[in-house]
Amino acid sequence: MSKILVTGGTGFIGSHTVVELFNAGYTPVLVDNLSNSSIKILDQIEKIIGEKPEFHQFDLCDAAKVNEFVAANPDISGIIHFAASKAVGESVQNPLKYYHNNFFSLINLLEAYREKPINFVFSSSCTVYGEPDTLPVTESAPVKKATSPYGNTKQIAEEILEETANANKNYQFIALRYFNPVGAHESALIGELPLGVPQNLLPFITQTAIGKREKLTVFGDDYETPDGSAVRDYIHVVDLAKAHVAAIKLLEKGNPNGNYDVFNIGTGNGYSVLEAIKAFENASGQKLNFEIGPRREGDIIKVWGDVTKSTKELGWKAELGIDEMMSSAWAWEKYLKDNPIG
Ligand code: UD1
Repeated sequence: MSKILVTGGTGFIGSHTVVELFNAGYTPVLVDNLSNSSIKILDQIEKIIGEKPEFHQFDLCDAAKVNEFVAANPDISGIIHFAASKAVGESVQNPLKYYHNNFFSLINLLEAYREKPINFVFSSSCTVYGEPDTLPVTESAPVKKATSPYGNTKQIAEEILEETANANKNYQFIALRYFNPVGAHESALIGELPLGVPQNLLPFITQTAIGKREKLTVFGDDYETPDGSAVRDYIHVVDLAKAHVAAIKLLEKGNPNGNYDVFNIGTGNGYSVLEAIKAFENASGQKLNFEIGPRREGDIIKVWGDVTKSTKELGWKAELGIDEMMSSAWAWEKYLKDNPIG
């Protein structure tokens, strides 16, 4: 069965995608520099799928290494490119790290495949929409000026792919615009492993509930939303992983829309921060210690996706709801307490 290169394969979304590729009959080949993930994730994946996936540790910013890898692996038919730096706040502090890591890795991969047909799925973000003018936001909504260097790397990367697709028909691209990935595999053997203090909502909630953090601060309750807190489209990471398999399948079949295409990957439902907390409390049976604090600079007020295009043209739809997102994230946090991975 086809070999698919998964860059960032030991990361949060990467590891879940490796499992779903394997379940769909593909042979995933992982590359990661382990800058934001643990080698122990390979053992965790093995516990789920029954074998250790092929793994290569190197930095995709090293063009010589990328070329060497591509030459040694001529049977790779598709790439799912996750490897990138992704902390919004850090990107504001250190923009060059973001432009360096996120662009050199992408360009090195693309250049290595200049002469060979390749299916390529790119990890993009709903951050490209900024604060949308209409909701739910569709793929044809305008791309707004990015509010962080991280967001800008996603916007520019999409442009790089589109222009490269126009110039060279060897490349078949799909960019997936993720909404807010949360949750963990149902086995509780893989999940999100934030470094240091989590910046994202769900790991902060679960770490507070387990006692690693004292309390969660809700960033603002005076927005123009039903309960005043900000609204997001949370998507279960296993559904998100399956969207990548669907994208690879569409590329293998031939995408009638051409060799560059984008899809929203969300559930189409928006939940406020306060609703997310309630859902966590219901799913876990834990009372969460939280307080209302000031708004976080740069935050979007509300965003959720129109998933009509991904449902019809990608043949993919989210199956798991907010309860499964919360209960799986909680099961993973509890697993980590007894089985630290770091
Ligand atoms: C952010 C980025 C997005 C990026 C994603 C990567 C912005 C504007 N967006 O999404 O581009 O793809 O991270 O993971 O930075 N919240 C709290 N308390 C907390 C943490 C979060 O109230 O301690 C709230 C936030 O204000 C927000 C919601 O929870 O309303 C979700 O926040 P988060 O998980 O950080 O994701 P985004 O900000 O949506």
